[in-house]
Amino acid sequence: MDRPFVFLNVAMSADGKIDSFERRGATLSSARDKDRVDRLRASADAVMVGGRTLLDEDPRLTVKSADLRAERQARGLPPNPVKVGIVSRADLRPDSEFLNSGPARVLLFTTAQTLAAQVEILQACGAEVFLLGKRRVDLVAALSMLKELGLERLMVEGGATLNFELLRMGLVDEITVYLAPLVLGGENAPTLAGGPGLVRFDALPLSLVSAEAWDDGGVLLHYQIS
Ligand SMILES: NC(=O)c1ccc[n+]([C@@H]2O[C@H](COP(=O)([O-])OP(=O)(O)OC[C@H]3O[C@@H](n4cnc5c(N)ncnc54)[C@H](OP(=O)(O)O)[C@@H]3O)[C@@H](O)[C@H]2O)c1
Repeated sequence: MDRPFVFLNVAMSADGKIDSFERRGATLSSARDKDRVDRLRASADAVMVGGRTLLDEDPRLTVKSADLRAERQARGLPPNPVKVGIVSRADLRPDSEFLNSGPARVLLFTTAQTLAAQVEILQACGAEVFLLGKRRVDLVAALSMLKELGLERLMVEGGATLNFELLRMGLVDEITVYLAPLVLGGENAPTLAGGPGLVRFDALPLSLVSAEAWDDGGVLLHYQIS
């Protein structure tokens, strides 16, 4: 396989939304789920997010637990996985958390829409910047580059548009969903997979690996792509 093993994780309301209509990065995970996500992140070689999540929410994407970071280092790994952004126009601020929280290697896959001067700013902040496409990032090329860099396990942390595109292109191996006991509604609230959508015939079949009911009222679902 010319790409890493790719697993996608989301926290989702019972009605399938991964944020409210306000799109401010609503917290849907319980405390227990946050710990699970931290462990999952600590198990990854790289963690990827899409452009809107990156620019609007400026995630740190670091491993929160000092014990988990120490465990990684004991295994000869860097304390945090490599951070990967898929962003058409990489207008990140030099003081952003994404670029600065760490220590962590930062890779930005972007397009010709990012101005050369901005690329220089990002590089001066220590990010490695790759131009892969004119309007949108070529995801196959991005994943193959991650594999070339020796990154074997890629965790994808949204958002909806990136999730859809990776799923549509057959680039995802597993999905974990924390289904929070909440209803958010909202026609424009993002869901696990956004984008233009698929007709029923093309719907992606999943195999349920496990379903756990948690005492915080949530359900943890683990799927493999069939
Ligand atoms: N609950 C959760 O687990 C969770 C996790 C993460 C995010 N979220 C939520 O998800 C929402 C953001 O999702 P989103 O769908 O708006 O954006 P997104 O998936 O974070 O980012 C998508 C954007 O990335 C850029 N991009 C460049 N190349 C691409 C490619 N090949 N495929 C896909 N995207 C590409 C595009 O920007 P251009 O349109 O500029 O070209 C695209 O619109 C937020 O509300 C956030 O809170 C929830």
